[in-house]
Amino acid sequence: MLTLSDSLTRSLQAFEARFEAMQTRLYPTSETLHQACRYALAGRGKRIRPLLVMAAAEASGVPGEAALSLAIAIEMIHTYSLVHDDLPCMDDDELRRGRATTHVTFDEATALLVGDALLTDAFSVISDDDDLSTHVRVKAIACLARSAGGRGMVKGQALDMHWTGRGDFTRTDLDSIHLEKTGALIAASCVLGGIAGGSTEGELRRLESFGKSLGLVFQIVDDLLDGKEGTGKSIGKDKEAGKLTYQSIMATDEARIYASKLTDETLELLKYWGPKAEALRELGQALIQRTL
Ligand code: IPE
Ligand code: IPE
Ligand code: MG
Ligand code: MG
Ligand code: MG
Repeated sequence: MLTLSDSLTRSLQAFEARFEAMQTRLYPTSETLHQACRYALAGRGKRIRPLLVMAAAEASGVPGEAALSLAIAIEMIHTYSLVHDDLPCMDDDELRRGRATTHVTFDEATALLVGDALLTDAFSVISDDDDLSTHVRVKAIACLARSAGGRGMVKGQALDMHWTGRGDFTRTDLDSIHLEKTGALIAASCVLGGIAGGSTEGELRRLESFGKSLGLVFQIVDDLLDGKEGTGKSIGKDKEAGKLTYQSIMATDEARIYASKLTDETLELLKYWGPKAEALRELGQALIQRTL
């Protein structure tokens, strides 16, 4: 878990309460699919993306609570990406969020369908939120579709699979995998908060740049943590599978220094919003300092 300030802890509590109510509405039955959806969404998820949505909403001048359905939608899409990422045909992982992966606890077909349900239902969470204007709903749905789809996260996952076990890559290949598979949804989280706060197009672009850069740092740290105990994921899996990570091109210390330098540059981008970006700043720092 991340160490959070009182203010971010309150945001997290507000998120979990609304998310629980939403899951009761979306997945109310004891049928396997509904149970499996709830299973995938629970566990030790850090909820980084929802917190970023809420923090970016605050930076844009509205309370984080104004963006709760957008925060829920992105966590659902992120969780779907994890369930599919862990499948035997992808990373073949048995541990996620501190417990058995969805396909291990249930079965592969159910895990595939959980992903389908979470992805699709995420969009209805936004379209059904009467507290948001039609304009905000359409903009948010467009942002999510663009960043999660074949030009965003899914493209990054395809690149990750393409380069697994190969040696003929360049630094640019590595950056594009990270920027798409992880950066796209992290950037979308920041943009969604800005959309909820009525930001201008220019401000949304600034939020996107911040999020992309933060996403890159986040994935470098994720790669560095591959060999560590306590992340709730399998240990040393990237190396074993021949994944293209920063540690395949630089020494661990070098990767850490690079992530730290990139974090400083990323946090500089927040100057534009002044003190209103305090929660975003804190999250940025927490992501580089995280050990789990
Ligand atoms: C893991 O994301 C997958 C990556 C994009 C690196 P998180 O580390 O945010 O996963 P949870 O949500 O906390 O389980
Ligand atoms: C997962 O990247 C990225 C997405 C699910 C989009 P990884 O494969 O590196 O994530 P972990 O290490 O399994 O969490
Ligand atoms: Mg993967
Ligand atoms: Mg994986
Ligand atoms: Mg990883």
